[in-house]
Amino acid sequence: MVTLSEADIRRACEVPTDPLQFSHRSGTRSALPEMSVAAILDEIARAADLPLEESITLPAQAYTSQEFFDWEVSTIFRKEWLALGHVSQIPQNGDFLNVDLLGEPLLIIRDKSGEVRIHSRVCPHRGMDIMPPGFGHDGHHPAEVREGKSGCGHTRLLLCPYHSWTFELDGKLKACPEMQEAKGFNRDQWGLKTYRCEIWNGFIFVNLDGDAPETVAEQYAGLGRHLEKWNLADMELVFAREWDGPFNWKVLTENFMESYHHAGAHSKTLQPMMPAKDTWTEQEKPHYIRCHLPLKPALRETIAAIEASGERWDVFPPLPGVTSEARYEWGLFLGYPSFKFLVTADMAVWYRTQPLGPDRLKLTTTLLVPKSTVQHPDYEAMLAKGTAQAVAFHLEDMEVCMAVQRGYYSSGYQRGRLSHLEMSIWLIQRYLAARSRGTWPAVDRPVAASQRPDLEGTF
Ligand code: FES
Ligand SMILES: [Fe+2]
Repeated sequence: MVTLSEADIRRACEVPTDPLQFSHRSGTRSALPEMSVAAILDEIARAADLPLEESITLPAQAYTSQEFFDWEVSTIFRKEWLALGHVSQIPQNGDFLNVDLLGEPLLIIRDKSGEVRIHSRVCPHRGMDIMPPGFGHDGHHPAEVREGKSGCGHTRLLLCPYHSWTFELDGKLKACPEMQEAKGFNRDQWGLKTYRCEIWNGFIFVNLDGDAPETVAEQYAGLGRHLEKWNLADMELVFAREWDGPFNWKVLTENFMESYHHAGAHSKTLQPMMPAKDTWTEQEKPHYIRCHLPLKPALRETIAAIEASGERWDVFPPLPGVTSEARYEWGLFLGYPSFKFLVTADMAVWYRTQPLGPDRLKLTTTLLVPKSTVQHPDYEAMLAKGTAQAVAFHLEDMEVCMAVQRGYYSSGYQRGRLSHLEMSIWLIQRYLAARSRGTWPAVDRPVAASQRPDLEGTF
């Protein structure tokens, strides 16, 4: 259904009065009555406790209410682990990446000892963002910004441009001019605030509140075992494109995790390769969802024949360790709440999400490939093809996400019924309900069964 170009989609996202009428920006009045956070949570709990066969969609207000978004930020996003970057984006000591998350200006940096840290960019002196957008334009900043990459660069020192306080890469205050008369002022007490940070499979995670009960590795242990074949920590992030998304984070998450829409939105692109009816979801887990998108049998035979003749079907060279069933499917994951990720035989795709409000988010779509792929003589051509394909699929998804958010403001919105192919949407409801009870899914309720118990755990 690619009827709109990337330029059309971007225009629809950026202009509030867009003639295509796709965009609904903050401030749009809903035709539906307001619902309190408690009432929305009651409805989520009710939907989550239905069996899958009876499952329904959530009230539209769960996607439009500012109060409910605030609840999600304080109860979910600030308490959970959120992925912000990949180690290959900051390979050298002194490399940094600026990411704004839930109103927190963050700096992800590899310090002089090689350790990755996440600091606040808010200066402890008077609150200045030490690297505001466009910083360093006059050439006085020690940091060099990488050309063509926003908020990414290299530095030997952190400098606040307001009154020139300087910080070491580990966040300690190094120097501050004219503070000798400030009584009792102790430089050691005035470093940048640092957040809890962990690296898992090469991805850099932050926990803003700092008291997540488990490590990322503990949470995603099952996932980690499966992903060993891809050696993600050693991959390189080779493509990143930012999108302004005028829709709720759950609209994107649900779209990413259900493959029922191959039959509609991707009818000409993904459906012929991975028919919606063959996709399935594993049994419920406390911290993640795993879905399988098998390639259709005829295509498997085609691929085997192409490879037997020494040619390549995939965009990039397939990973030698990815064999049997995993070779012939896309593996789709959601690490709650927002780590959206998929692996194929030749690459990995990660969607970095920065929720901005009930009807707005910033999204970065990325591709990761092994280092050996980057060194391949045909790498540039492969990357151009992989990028074009990734953007084409994504435009189809952007179009539906925008149009769905528009539906959530309308008096015409009805609570819909879900297909069994949308099990992941029901699992997300069960996650939200569990978090509202202060726990995680499958902890205080029976575990929802796999759609393919015969295949569960076999690959
Ligand atoms: S606000 Fe940063 S040095 Fe003053
Ligand atoms: Fe899609």
